[in-house]
Amino acid sequence: MSSHLVQADPLIREKTSSDRAACKQLQTDYLIIGSGAAGLLAANRLAQHGRVLLVNKGRFQDSSTWNAQGGIAGVMSDTDSIESHVQDTLAAGVGLCHEKVVRTIVHHGCDIIKELIEIGTNFDEKDGALHLTQEGGHSSRRVAHVQDATGRAIGEALLSQVAPQANVTRLEQHTVIDLITSERLTHGEESRCVGAYVLNPDGDVVTVSASQTILATGGVGKVYLYTSNPHAATGDGIAMAWRAGCAMMNLEHIQFHPTCLFHRQGSNMLISEALRGEGAHVVDAHGRRFLFDYDERGELAPRDIVARAIDYEIKKQGVDCMYIDARPLGDDLIGDHFRNIHARLLKLGLDMKQEPVPVVPAAHYICGGVQTDVNGKTNIEGLYVIGEAACTGLHGANRLASNSLLECLVMADHCAADVIKQAAAADYHIPAWDESGIVPETERIQIKQNWDEIRATMSHYVGIVRSDERLRRARRRLRIIQDEISSYYWKHPVSQDLLELRNLALMAELIVRSAQQRKESRGLHYSTDYPERSARVLDTILRPDI
Ligand code: FAD
Ligand code: SIN
Repeated sequence: MSSHLVQADPLIREKTSSDRAACKQLQTDYLIIGSGAAGLLAANRLAQHGRVLLVNKGRFQDSSTWNAQGGIAGVMSDTDSIESHVQDTLAAGVGLCHEKVVRTIVHHGCDIIKELIEIGTNFDEKDGALHLTQEGGHSSRRVAHVQDATGRAIGEALLSQVAPQANVTRLEQHTVIDLITSERLTHGEESRCVGAYVLNPDGDVVTVSASQTILATGGVGKVYLYTSNPHAATGDGIAMAWRAGCAMMNLEHIQFHPTCLFHRQGSNMLISEALRGEGAHVVDAHGRRFLFDYDERGELAPRDIVARAIDYEIKKQGVDCMYIDARPLGDDLIGDHFRNIHARLLKLGLDMKQEPVPVVPAAHYICGGVQTDVNGKTNIEGLYVIGEAACTGLHGANRLASNSLLECLVMADHCAADVIKQAAAADYHIPAWDESGIVPETERIQIKQNWDEIRATMSHYVGIVRSDERLRRARRRLRIIQDEISSYYWKHPVSQDLLELRNLALMAELIVRSAQQRKESRGLHYSTDYPERSARVLDTILRPDI
């Protein structure tokens, strides 16, 4: 077994394939791909019911979950109400949210936060009660947090529950290549997901067969040059689901976080929205608070409005960045609540207690994804998608801050409850991984070059402000890049960067195609050709067969 197999599990059989020496085979009941908040909670729940194989292409710390700063939204105070959280979510989503889903997810916020506390998440408290912070678009303080490093605390608590489970085998540094969909051998007709091909750290492809497969692979921020996301966010799960035949919803709604650090050595560092919630100002180089020119809520307007305003001012003033001035918070609040951001900035030579910090908007979150219900159910039997990779309709055209961790955990909980009701998979044909036609690689420069080209194309043409012409240009460029990738993908041995590149290219194409379908401006999708909101509220749906 590989040294990256974190826990040797006698319940999982491994055998050398008779027809291919390098090909290994694993069998499990539940294959969970991704170990962020969504994957970890699902693993924890399903371990009570069967064997779980939890696969993760990096380390646990490499997920968006681990990097989450602000907190998790939930109704935890007597002065707040479920209805108010629902209404704030609907308002931020600009008419595109699915209200039933919003109500279900918001309703479970309090229970999920209580469970996190029970398993050891030490949310900040003040005067003996939970300290709830404020973020843009929320009409109440309702964000539970652990200083400004909430994701790490939640991740550690969830992991502490999963780690001792004898039924869970964790594979780190294993990259899932593609899902396996197969014809039913005994009952004919419909295709279903029966597992996945996984690249192990030795470069071998492992065939995993599973009764139920759950994708919890997170987002796709890496499709842009500037992003708050960790390296893992290359949209692998969404791309795999598309190749397997899943429908996609609202992929054009890419959320740009208004305040990411503008700095050569720290370009992807997020400066939490909670800073604005607690009273920090967004200013230009002259110290002017310009956000009120765009929305009466100023710093507390929803993210799409704040990001667009900052982008507009940067372009209008012909400068590189705007600034966030945290000095109104005072040294104590900065040193306490925001101690991690403060410490990281100090290492870069910036003291937020003394000076405004340069910021720009950067790609942060994909509101669209694989079309699912609140249980993560897709249109393919045996395949669920949960967390950021899924689109339930909760976020509509713009996600309300701190609603994502909430969605991940509620979905994981619902998903596990649905999965255990499914009958065990019957006898399926699992095709062996085919390596015929592979030739040794001579150079890798093209992979790097295509990565850079995709990210530059998306940033220049499919950013905060779009137009028909920009989208057409992006589509033309992406077609050329995709042709190049297909010309070498099938000939070269699989490697993580090649797999990620293929997924990134596909995700870029799908985002552009979705953006081209939306002939209006709504939430995160703003087009200069259609500046108005349409009276008809429509989800953008893409299907692989159309
Ligand atoms: P992730 O946590 O991203 O996990 C994805 C997992 O999938 C990783 O383990 C990755 O290795 C694995 N994976 C991906 N592809 C493959 C593959 N091919 N094979 C195997 N494994 C694979 N939301 C909030 O609600 N509150 C916040 O305060 C907040 N702050 C944020 C701050 C930052 C800097 C970022 C980037 C996001 C923040 N978000 C926040 C958003 C939120 O963190 C994410 O949407 C959420 O954590 C996603 O969780 P997930 O479980 O869906 O995916
Ligand atoms: C932040 O802390 O600003 C991120 C919150 C979020 O993305 O929900």
